[in-house]
Amino acid sequence: MLILGLNMFHADASAALVEDGKVVFAIAEERLNRCKHYGSFPSLAVKACLDAVGAKISDIDHVAVGQDSDANLAQKVQYAVSNPAKILNFIRLRQRKQAMRDVRALLAEALGTDSTQFRFQVHYLEHHIAHIASAYYCCPWEEAAGFSYDGSGDFVSAMMARCRGNEIEVLDRVFLPHSLGSFYTMICEFIGYAKYGDEGKVMGLAPYGSDVYGDKIREIVAINNGSFQLNLRYFKPLGSNQGMQILPDGTVRLARHFSDRMTQLFGEPRQPHTEITQRDMNLAFSMQQRFEDVFFHLLNQLYRRVLCEDLAMAGGCALNSVANGKLFDRTPFRRTWIQPAAGDEGLAIGAALHTYYSVLKQPRRHVLKDAYLGPDYSERKIESALKAAGIAYHRLEREPLLETVAEQIAEGRVVGWFQGRMEWGPRALGNRSIVAHPGLPNMKDILNARIKHREWFRPFAPSILAECQAEYFEHDHPSPFMLHVYKIRPEKRTVLCAVNHKDDTGRLQTVSREENPLYYDLIRAFRRRTGIPVVLNTSFNENEPIVCVPEEAIDCFKRTRMDVLAIGPFVASKAEN
Ligand SMILES: [Fe+2]
Repeated sequence: MLILGLNMFHADASAALVEDGKVVFAIAEERLNRCKHYGSFPSLAVKACLDAVGAKISDIDHVAVGQDSDANLAQKVQYAVSNPAKILNFIRLRQRKQAMRDVRALLAEALGTDSTQFRFQVHYLEHHIAHIASAYYCCPWEEAAGFSYDGSGDFVSAMMARCRGNEIEVLDRVFLPHSLGSFYTMICEFIGYAKYGDEGKVMGLAPYGSDVYGDKIREIVAINNGSFQLNLRYFKPLGSNQGMQILPDGTVRLARHFSDRMTQLFGEPRQPHTEITQRDMNLAFSMQQRFEDVFFHLLNQLYRRVLCEDLAMAGGCALNSVANGKLFDRTPFRRTWIQPAAGDEGLAIGAALHTYYSVLKQPRRHVLKDAYLGPDYSERKIESALKAAGIAYHRLEREPLLETVAEQIAEGRVVGWFQGRMEWGPRALGNRSIVAHPGLPNMKDILNARIKHREWFRPFAPSILAECQAEYFEHDHPSPFMLHVYKIRPEKRTVLCAVNHKDDTGRLQTVSREENPLYYDLIRAFRRRTGIPVVLNTSFNENEPIVCVPEEAIDCFKRTRMDVLAIGPFVASKAEN
């Protein structure tokens, strides 16, 4: 049975294919059309899903969409009635959502085919149930607490659920305009990071500040009785889409979130690309701290209701890896399974899996063991791309390839590492990665100057052999999708200086041979030379979506000052090109 999952007309549009209850392919449209966070219809992603298994759209049994415009209608209407100025905006949104309900027409147009051959049934699933489904139906447990939180989706910003067997029972929702995601976005905008998805950058700024504004920030978000409330005086009225707009070309734009009251309290907002002041760092610090307080308050409430120590989690805020890393100390939860595509691209697999397990009641059988769900490319295709680009290269067998690349990293070179299937979700996990030595004091500056051009305050991440985690980090819960930040042990901070952040933490990826044998063996080869079971891992890109096809990797290698490219079995170096 084939189920196509979709996230469409929403940021991070994506498609996923579930075959007999197992996710076999998933990709965000941005990786294919190269438009970051693309938010219209994922036409190329749908085609890629079908091509991956050699299916036609007429072979699809069900199509599942990770949103439902009828969900929480009573709350939407109540909100519109009590805010007459927003009724027009509300009606427009409804009309747009009605228009997109015709999935058959949209798919027929995207694939240039005739909808009379379609035999699939269409299912719509509420946004946050799809988020929770994307984690729960991929986790290994028969029972879990389910949690999702983000800016907004179907008029909800957070959901708590009890997940048991095939069912996700919703226990509670936090309705708009109260939203922890919007709170974070508002402060990020105020300190000059106003683009969709900038929140992850500002998370890295927080450790440079101190809690100067704790009291004031607590006034913006109040905690009460297992939930929270925003003080709306600090926010512009945002409407039922929380200020997020998809433009006709599919790009995502955020409306200004903060009101003039923020200026009265904190002074003028920082303009993008101007100097970051201590005020901005302190705001980032207090924002992250308040975010964590509310998050743990919600999780502790959830735990009291489900009394289960396993947590399945997704939603854009679940990418807050700093908060995730503290979860074990501040809640009774002992294990987490966080969807690697915790943001809205993950809705595609959540909706598809929910259709299989909850709607069709098929037996649970699937555990998502790794995030390598995207396309891969044959040796022939890679070689012809290298030839077309006029690159000099060598072909190596597996062992010499690993030894050569490990040697280059150990000598301080920056290596583009393009192997196997592309990662699903925002993190590069060793298949579309740039890898480097984690223990060279100038490596962060080298990477930024030559390739990444990132903000000075953003850390680079370590990939560590799973069995060495406890020796290097103060927490041993695995982090296979790079979604937890832990303290680095004091005696290892110098050894890992290029990935040791201001507060002596690292957003680690634990790598096991089972999940990624080639990457695992590369790190082992590096350890043999240096004694360090860790490499620095950053995404393979330069201010663009992560590279997907060989041509994009080769192009990135050529236009940046990357030293070495290891692509499939081929190695090219700048010295020879
Ligand atoms: Fe979401």
